[in-house]
Amino acid sequence: MVERKQSRTHPGVNSRLENLRNLSPAERLDRVADVVPLDACDKQAIGGGGLPSALANGMIENVIGTFTLPLGIATNFTINGRDYLIPMSVEEPSVVAAASYMARIVRACGGFRTSSTAPVMRAQVQVLGVGDPHGARMRILREREAIIAAANARDKVLVSLGGGCKDVEVHVFEETPVGPMLVVHLIVDVRDAMGANTVNTMAESVAPMIEDITGAVVRLRILSNFADLRLARAMVAVTPDALKTEDHEGGQVARGIVEASAFAAVDPYRAATHNKGIMNGVDAVVVATGNDWRAVEAGAHAWASRSGRYRSLTNWEIDAKGNLVGTLEMPMALGLVGGATRTHPGARAALKILGVESAQELAEVTVAVGLAQNMAALRALASEGIQKGHMALHARNIAIVAGASGDEIGTVAAALAAAHDVRVDRARELLETMRNGGASN
Ligand code: MEV
Repeated sequence: MVERKQSRTHPGVNSRLENLRNLSPAERLDRVADVVPLDACDKQAIGGGGLPSALANGMIENVIGTFTLPLGIATNFTINGRDYLIPMSVEEPSVVAAASYMARIVRACGGFRTSSTAPVMRAQVQVLGVGDPHGARMRILREREAIIAAANARDKVLVSLGGGCKDVEVHVFEETPVGPMLVVHLIVDVRDAMGANTVNTMAESVAPMIEDITGAVVRLRILSNFADLRLARAMVAVTPDALKTEDHEGGQVARGIVEASAFAAVDPYRAATHNKGIMNGVDAVVVATGNDWRAVEAGAHAWASRSGRYRSLTNWEIDAKGNLVGTLEMPMALGLVGGATRTHPGARAALKILGVESAQELAEVTVAVGLAQNMAALRALASEGIQKGHMALHARNIAIVAGASGDEIGTVAAALAAAHDVRVDRARELLETMRNGGASN
């Protein structure tokens, strides 16, 4: 494991914000701002819907407006002994609640433990028309130092921060539809950047040198999103008792989670759904912090397939003391500098709430959320099923759509969920009856 600096931001934060769910969005934002330092601009960026059109217009092409998603706060997270409030942007009900609930269970059992590798990305340079691919590989590797120096000449700042191109690999494909192919990898420590721009520039800059060395033709020069050298890991160990539900004792739930994990380990149909649940949590943090969720998705699924068969990203097992142990290790190419992480005011405010000091720390927090999300899904699936909890939260949305506000939302949602009849027309009926002071049937 590569050591990274322990975060010193928000050292005294207590992520256990009780009763947050009973407040209005504005009150919740105030509550968060009581705990982490948010200024008026941050509060405006979050509460006011975020992205001014002038900024949006500078980010992509043919802009006609902005598209907003809810931003929630996952509470209760303790990671490596430090509390975090975690911003999550997602359209699906129950994701934020599930993460917060699992974090509460994990917190009582010592919290999440995380680690990560250094933030190392790969750039690929495709070499075509090589008659002697193995000989060409040797010639490239003999020039390793010169190639690294040429790549690093493009980014003195990164090198001064301890990053930069560290190594060169050469992969030989003897047979492809277009003949033998060499692929040169630049192994680059990108520090706090996601790194796409950095490594793409390096790949382009060394291409002429590779052509000189091999006497062949370079075609593609681009990063790999299979970020297998940039891994983040999270682990939990929870007592069976902490997992019990209304109708299921904890040991039974723990065994059910291990069985669910075995299902996802052997069956790609289940693994895809299992991993989707993990990505519910991961993507929500990635989006909230302005990072590239397509890159993280691509890396996650490539990693899940690395054995040649698509598998689950997590493992769940029972340790010698009878505790349920869950682990997640996956690529996590996230940045704190560059791109929308800096330009989007909402993303900047989200990063302030998190208080992470490095991209590595952000990656570890994100993986912890993914593990919490998986734990929530498997705990529910191994006991009462997911629809009960999901419908209770979905009912709140339906109540809002029907026109409920304030306390009405909870009352209407509870009635809908209790009757297993979560429909907008029923919610309207209930609301009307309530407002007329009558009893509903
Ligand atoms: C739903 O968004 C995610 C789940 O399907 C994940 C899973 O089945 O593990 C509940």
